[in-house]
Amino acid sequence: MAQVGEFAQLDLSDNPRYFIEFLDMVDRAPKIKEVRNSTYKAMDLALGSHVLDVGCGHGTAAIEMARLVGVHGTIEGVDISGDMIAEAKMRAQDVSNVTFRTSDAYQLPYADNTFDATRMERVLLYIKDRERVISEMIRVTKRRGRVVLADVDFESTAIFSNDHLQTRKMTALIADACVNPTSGRELPYLLRAAGLEDISVDLQAISTPYEFCFHLSNGTLRSAIEGGRVTPQEVDIWLQDLASIEAAGQFFQSWVFTIVGGVVG
Ligand SMILES: C[S@@+](CC[C@H](N)C(=O)[O-])C[C@H]1O[C@@H](n2cnc3c(N)ncnc32)[C@H](O)[C@@H]1O
Repeated sequence: MAQVGEFAQLDLSDNPRYFIEFLDMVDRAPKIKEVRNSTYKAMDLALGSHVLDVGCGHGTAAIEMARLVGVHGTIEGVDISGDMIAEAKMRAQDVSNVTFRTSDAYQLPYADNTFDATRMERVLLYIKDRERVISEMIRVTKRRGRVVLADVDFESTAIFSNDHLQTRKMTALIADACVNPTSGRELPYLLRAAGLEDISVDLQAISTPYEFCFHLSNGTLRSAIEGGRVTPQEVDIWLQDLASIEAAGQFFQSWVFTIVGGVVG
């Protein structure tokens, strides 16, 4: 069964639709728009801007930015997954100023000093060598241009349940499926260490519905069972508790995002 950690190499997954549905569910969370707006503000996005979205997924932010920068602006979106890029191209059929290509964030296919701003949302969670990827983003950003990173902190996950100790265990298991589950809190340090100037930091909290919690937890916890870190019974009892809370109209889950920007000196 697919699990969240596979975002690092999802073309190897036998179920690419799991990840497309995952991103669509997050896109339906009302406050994700505020996370994205916060990145656009930190990027100083304006009419005519030339922008790169690294790890663009199925293209929601890139398509949105294409409208914001107008016909004289351009957006490039890159993602390591051919499945995601195919989906992004399909969704952007009627948008003329956005281009998508399959590419690894470790080696961006652009010359130095190309973009007014570069951004990356919910990708560093899955990246082993974050310093290398950030330095690649800086390389392709113009002098005085902006680099913006947004990540969730998986350890900020709060889920209402009848057994908060089990919930702590389950959320820790889900977090551990990512290479950098605490990426959100590490972003300010990473951009300062990379030498960027005028660092801005914003925090946004979002809540996601039961359908997303189940989609994320079920796949990821089944992998944790295979790893021997939790029993099938524990997972079933915990998920049943959440289902009964949802049936009573009381489901609640929240996350904290960190949005960090900096200027290339
Ligand atoms: C959680 S999704 C986020 C997608 C999009 N940024 C969004 O906010 O909707 C993570 C994305 O990062 C991509 N990714 C993971 N490792 C990558 C790498 N080394 N280079 C480029 N993209 C990568 C995945 O394929 C996936 O589409």
